Amino acid sequence: MTATPKEKVRVGLIGCGGISNAHLPHLSTSDDVELAAFCDVVVERAEKHAAKYGGQVFDDASKMLNSTELDAAYILIPTYAHGAPERACVKAGVPFLVEKPLGINPEDLRALSTEVQESGLITAAGFMNRYRKSVNRSKELLAADPAILLDGAWIGGPPLVKEGDYFSTQPIGLWWPFKEKSGGQFVEQVIHTVDLARYLVGDVTEVFAYAANGFNQKLPNLIKGYNLDDAMVVSMRFANGAVGNIMSCCAAPQGGGVFLNVWGSHHTHKFSDWAHHVQIHRSGEKGHEDIAGDIDDIFPTEDRAFINAVKSGDRSSIKCNHADGVKSTLLALAANESLETGKPVTVKY
Ligand SMILES: NC(=O)c1ccc[n+]([C@@H]2O[C@H](COP(=O)([O-])OP(=O)(O)OC[C@H]3O[C@@H](n4cnc5c(N)ncnc54)[C@H](O)[C@@H]3O)[C@@H](O)[C@H]2O)c1
Repeated sequence: MTATPKEKVRVGLIGCGGISNAHLPHLSTSDDVELAAFCDVVVERAEKHAAKYGGQVFDDASKMLNSTELDAAYILIPTYAHGAPERACVKAGVPFLVEKPLGINPEDLRALSTEVQESGLITAAGFMNRYRKSVNRSKELLAADPAILLDGAWIGGPPLVKEGDYFSTQPIGLWWPFKEKSGGQFVEQVIHTVDLARYLVGDVTEVFAYAANGFNQKLPNLIKGYNLDDAMVVSMRFANGAVGNIMSCCAAPQGGGVFLNVWGSHHTHKFSDWAHHVQIHRSGEKGHEDIAGDIDDIFPTEDRAFINAVKSGDRSSIKCNHADGVKSTLLALAANESLETGKPVTVKY
């Protein structure tokens, strides 16, 4: 059924880089969405999207929000750039979906979270793994058989300037390799696992981190000025008494990938790959329950929950709002603080 114009949610994008291409296929083919405006500080990127999808073009989020009537915004910007676009949305009263991580400065992030909560706006944070069937099946079982132990990791290769390497051909290469801009691999990428730890097990009270450094620096084709930790191990104590360990590595291109294991008294949950396929083993039973991770439909599922909430005012299908996403970001940033101080850090939410 074709939606009437009145039923359309007018969306503006803030940030038109790589991840916009994960959200646009669904948004641009939804009858109830109008792509009304595109904004990027590199205005050519906004122009490119507008040429394809229509809509006005801006180089500044405040200008876009002040001069265009929008029902919702997507904030799809690097870690270091958060704050001003969210505050512009609060000022304009425009609900927003924001990609992870939600900021880089813990103090500012806590202040921002308070401002956003006080605004009462509908918000969503881009932790799309929370929408996976595999993850939610485990969450249901973990409610009755709580986690005792968790371990997870994202292991991959370094950001190189070799031809065809993702980081050398995409805008992300301009900020991801620099810790002061991205927060580092643990904060920028492994935060997906950090968020799942919170979603499945609950809040973390304390973290302690070690890092490995200097291995990538030996590579001749490493991005210039690169200063990320090659690997991190981060130990965690959960509020429910469970313990966990999450690792990041961007110095080992072979045989790595994404995994997450969660052990309870009666079940073991073994997630693998970016899609988070899960095998659930139950004590005393042969075989296991197998749930394939959603692949093509995971961003559309996340987008749909947000767009439906904006249309109806019912935010109950949003699985991670801004305040909750801020908590996962503060937890990941606490690991960096532990590295700096060499001490365990109590996580302040
Ligand atoms: N959910 C996921 O799995 C997933 C995957 C990839 C990226 N991301 C996240 O999405 C965010 C963006 O990543 P990306 O790969 O699109 O990066 P990118 O560098 O490709 O794109 C970011 C864009 O934001 C623009 N920008 C920067 N500051 C801005 C501002 N103040 N106002 C407007 N535009 C601004 C940049 O010019 C750039 O075009 C990151 O936080 C990243 O972690 C999430």
